[in-house]
Amino acid sequence: MADSDFPGSRLEAPLTNPVSVSWQSPSNIAFVKYWGKTGRQLPVNPSLSMTLSKAFTETRLTSLPRETEGTADLDFWFEGKQNSAFGERMKRFLQSITDIFPWLEQVSLKLETHNTFPHSAGIASSASSFSALALCLCSLDTELCGILLDETEFRIKASFIARLGSGSACRSLFPGLTVWGYTKSLTGSSDLFAVPVTEVHPLFKTLRDTILIVNSEEKAVSSSEGHSRMVNHPFAEARIRQAGKNTTDLLEAFKTGDKDSFIRIVENEALTLHALMMTSDNGFMLMYPETVRIISRIKELRRETGLDICFTLDAGPNVHLIYFEEQSEQVAKLIVEDIFKNIKQNTRIDDFCGSGPVKLS
Ligand code: DP6
Repeated sequence: MADSDFPGSRLEAPLTNPVSVSWQSPSNIAFVKYWGKTGRQLPVNPSLSMTLSKAFTETRLTSLPRETEGTADLDFWFEGKQNSAFGERMKRFLQSITDIFPWLEQVSLKLETHNTFPHSAGIASSASSFSALALCLCSLDTELCGILLDETEFRIKASFIARLGSGSACRSLFPGLTVWGYTKSLTGSSDLFAVPVTEVHPLFKTLRDTILIVNSEEKAVSSSEGHSRMVNHPFAEARIRQAGKNTTDLLEAFKTGDKDSFIRIVENEALTLHALMMTSDNGFMLMYPETVRIISRIKELRRETGLDICFTLDAGPNVHLIYFEEQSEQVAKLIVEDIFKNIKQNTRIDDFCGSGPVKLS
């Protein structure tokens, strides 16, 4: 499949009335990390994530009549306020996909969006924001140009569009566990869009993620900058091989219900991600002393208590504590009585494996 497999349509007659659609779409947490890209936002390795439930974005996109055609025209509102910084990124994105949605040059757009998680929580909002926007664009395509797709085609197209906005966003389109990037271990997997993992032991449908907030300030180095540091990274080749193997092994663990392999791979991916940052040209470090203390303590607690807990990290200092629902009461106790002793602020967000985006109107 290529971009041309989504032939774009123009409006046959100028729009006379506003048309609005709205979607809710979740964030996701990667177990195998997407780190490095090429071409038109294609990943250099497969990645695998869990769609979250409580951390989501709600987006309303309204197309309005416009007198003259031109570059994408966007009025962007974030949490009730006109926001220019993120609005500019969204505008650049819309401008870049006028080949897929030519009608973007024939209407004005108003985009209103808000997140259920606090902006300061340190949760990457690009996955939920771009997946919600991609869904709205595909719904408007149906409303304005009569493009009709079945449910599966619609989600795949939305995933394709979300990828062009932010790579990790394409994995938020499906419930549960999702793979983005071609791997011979999953039929139908592609670099162009994500696909859901269907062979999953019931245990892995009960995964939970408690985000322990170490620091909520903006990161010193953005993900986009981090991806670009992979271009001439001395360990790039080995990393790409490792991510492929970790994806294959993790898919097998999901099938068989192998918790030990799951824990080993998830922690290996988190530490590899940060090791790649540190060993890149002009290396950088996003972990804080508290991050290191917490992840060391999680490993010790796993040995001491026998609980199936592990950690993962995004491109930032906050720790995602991953565990299973059946042990959630014991884990909640550990967080309050032990793990929180390692952080100044006791802020956490309890989330779990979610069921994917929801159309609101
Ligand atoms: C470390 O998807 O935020 O979270 O494609 O440039 O928008 P862009 O990058 P982004 O990168 C996410 C990187 C990561 C790992 C992951 O989610 O797989």
